[in-house]
Formats: sequence, structure tokens, C-alpha cells
Amino acid sequence: MHVPPIPHLTAEDPQLATLIEAEATRQHDKLRMIASENYVSEAVLEASSTVLTNKYSEGYAGKRYYEGQQLIDPIETLAIDRAKSLFGVDHANVQPYSGSPANLAVYLAFLQPGDTVMGMALPMGGHLTHGWSVSATGKWFNPVRYAVNRETGRIDLDEVRDLALAERPKVIFCGGTAVPRTIDFPGFAAIAREVGAVLVADIAHIAGLIAGGAHPSPVGHADVITTTTHKTLRGPRGAMIMATAEHATAIDKAVFPGLQGGPHNHTTAAIAVALREAGTQDFRRYAHHVVANAAALATALTEHGFTLSSGGTDNHLILADLTSKDIAGKPAAQALDRAGIELNYNTVPYDTRKPFDPSGIRLGTAALTTRGLTEEHMPQVAAWMDETVAAALKDDEATIDRIAGEVRDLLAAFPMPGYRAA
Ligand SMILES: Cc1ncc(COP(=O)(O)O)c(C=O)c1O
Repeated sequence: MHVPPIPHLTAEDPQLATLIEAEATRQHDKLRMIASENYVSEAVLEASSTVLTNKYSEGYAGKRYYEGQQLIDPIETLAIDRAKSLFGVDHANVQPYSGSPANLAVYLAFLQPGDTVMGMALPMGGHLTHGWSVSATGKWFNPVRYAVNRETGRIDLDEVRDLALAERPKVIFCGGTAVPRTIDFPGFAAIAREVGAVLVADIAHIAGLIAGGAHPSPVGHADVITTTTHKTLRGPRGAMIMATAEHATAIDKAVFPGLQGGPHNHTTAAIAVALREAGTQDFRRYAHHVVANAAALATALTEHGFTLSSGGTDNHLILADLTSKDIAGKPAAQALDRAGIELNYNTVPYDTRKPFDPSGIRLGTAALTTRGLTEEHMPQVAAWMDETVAAALKDDEATIDRIAGEVRDLLAAFPMPGYRAA
């Protein structure tokens, strides 16, 4: 049963309520390993479904374009203050609707159409919004892209520096969507300083690890920090942009009125809740546990013959090239989903296959750590993954079904925020 309960929805729109209840059960029964997902707390769920959704509040606290902001202003200010204190930044804007609009606001703040922006190439682990060709950021600006080193699978800062010196980007993005290794923020900052670029750290994936002290912070190195709030940070779907005092006005103007209208106040409130939670000792332990689980899983997968991009992980994320398993990423991800193990197919660096049918899978430990799984469980998870991939190659659906049952049995002992057995 969904928690908080949804009796009014069930009465008024049973068709939709049934789908939502089924999704809650699905999330309970599956080993959710999509690296960008998590389970938010029931307090976050409550905050995001309140009457705050009824209110329009274009502008910023004290400078709104509609009346009736007596309570919205302190809610948004609370979220901002919590972001500033949690990450130790001068300025925070909590209004971006999601990670992609947050990054677009950065372009609007610092670039003119056609200006040069440097980011990690998408197939190397960068995000679409870091200047990839199909994104507005790649169409309307002049993108130059760095890669990972073919041998090590890691970013080579000498190569990044050479490219930056040759291309003189105005903005450099670091961080990404499939980067299993620690981002060297001081190293990127030195390059950005040398070429006079604004350094943007996109910490969407690792924000929770940074908040919990399990990954170095970009604060003091990056001029601007963008993040989603819904991945390791364990908040609602949303985003924030943090910046040094120097760039505060440019960022705020870019978000509103540059790119957006009214902020989603229910999301702002839920972000405030998540930021309070992320400042607790419990969350610190959680962040370290996410990393320990990923390390244990990487070791176990390697023992089962999986080839990991860069040889392992420093954070919550693992990228595996399945070429050595004689299966492509997509059929493997689909079989794993049938076995109750949910992850996504993904390109690996220097992939010879196409993005819609790539060689790899990407997985992460943020959600299963929220459920309470520990390093002890990781050898079992790796063994299930190995057995499922082998079964998929033989069309052995009986084995896949058996594993799905075993996954469900294990997870029954680990409560899920947002769900209670009826
Ligand atoms: C590094 C990074 N930046 C930005 C985004 C965009 O976030 P959203 O999907 O909320 O637009 C993502 C999403 O996965 C991401 O991984």
C-alpha cells in the first residue's frame, strides 16, 4: 500500500490509483539499481503533495510578482538557507525545475549563442546538457568535448588542459552521468583559471555523497555548482544551482525571468525537507554506506568476470562492459529487469555499438542502500546478475523467474519508505 495512503485518489480515479499502487509494489519488490534513482522519505513525499502546488510565486523572496507570498517566502528561504549551510556555498537558487533546465540556465548566465563550451562527451559519461549534439546546448553553442583515457577509463587532465588551451571555452563542465571515479575539482579549477573559463561542477549524481562527506566537494574550486535533488541527495525531482557571491545575480536572473516562470513550491518544500535530512549523522552514514556497497559490488562483479569501466568505482556508480559476457547491454538489462534487478543499458567509453543498443550496463547502489542492504548482500547481488546474464543467453526464463522470486524474498525484510505491505 502506498504511504502516505491515497484514499481520495482511489475513490475519485481508481484507474490511476491502481497504477500508482502497482508502481509502489513494483518499487518494493525490485532491486532498484538505476544509478540516478533512490527512495525518498515519507516526509519528502508528504511535502511534495501539499497545497503548496496551488500557489504561483514568480520572482524571489521579497520580490514577487503575485500577492499572497507570506508563507511561500519563508519556505523558499528555508530551502536556500539549508542548501547554503549543507554545502557551504555563498548562494543557492532552488527554483530550477530539473537538472537540464538548471544547466541551461548556466548557459544563459554566461554564454551567447555560438560561444564555446567544454564538457565531457556523452558516450564517455558526460550529460546531454554538457554540449552533446542532439541537445540545445550542442546545437546553439559551440561544444568541444573531452574523453576518458582509452587505457585507464579515467579523465586525463593533461588532455583536458590541452583541449582547453586550444579551444578557449568560456564555460567548462565537469561531472557527469556515468562517471564511476572521483572528480578532481581542484584539477579542473586550475585549467579553468588558466583559460579564463567559468568552471561548472555538475554534481547531480554525487550531491548526496558530497553532502555526506563521501566525495570531495567542489566548493572553493567551481564557480557554479548545479545539481539535481533526486539522486543520491534523496530529495524530490528538482534541481539547485549554487554559486559564489560574484555569480549570484547572473544565476538568479537566468533562472527567472530568463528561463522559467513560477517555481514549483511543493517541490521547493520537499527539497527543504531533503536538505534537512541530508545534514544528519544518519545521512552521513548512508552516504558512506552507498560507496562501500558499490565497492563491494564492484569487487564481486569482477570476480564473476564482469569487465568494469575504469576497473571499479569510487562512488555509487558502476559501468560494466558486457562484451566479455557475449551479450549486449540492452538484452542483459531487459533480462535483469525480468529477474527483479532494475538498471539501464548504457554506452561504455569507446563503445563500438550504437547508443540504443550499446555494450554496457550502468548501475548504482543509492536506492538499495536506502532499503538497508549492506556489503554482505553484494556478493549475492553479483551472483544473481551473473546467473541472469547466463540464463538470458540460453533463453532460460525459469532461472530468471526463480531469481525474481529470490530477490522479492530478500527485499521483503527491508522496508521501503513510501510503501507498507497491506
Ligand atoms: C550529471 C547530470 N546532469 C544533469 C542531469 C539532468 O537532470 P534531469 O533529468 O532532472 O533534467 C542528469 C540526469 O540524469 C545528470 O546525470
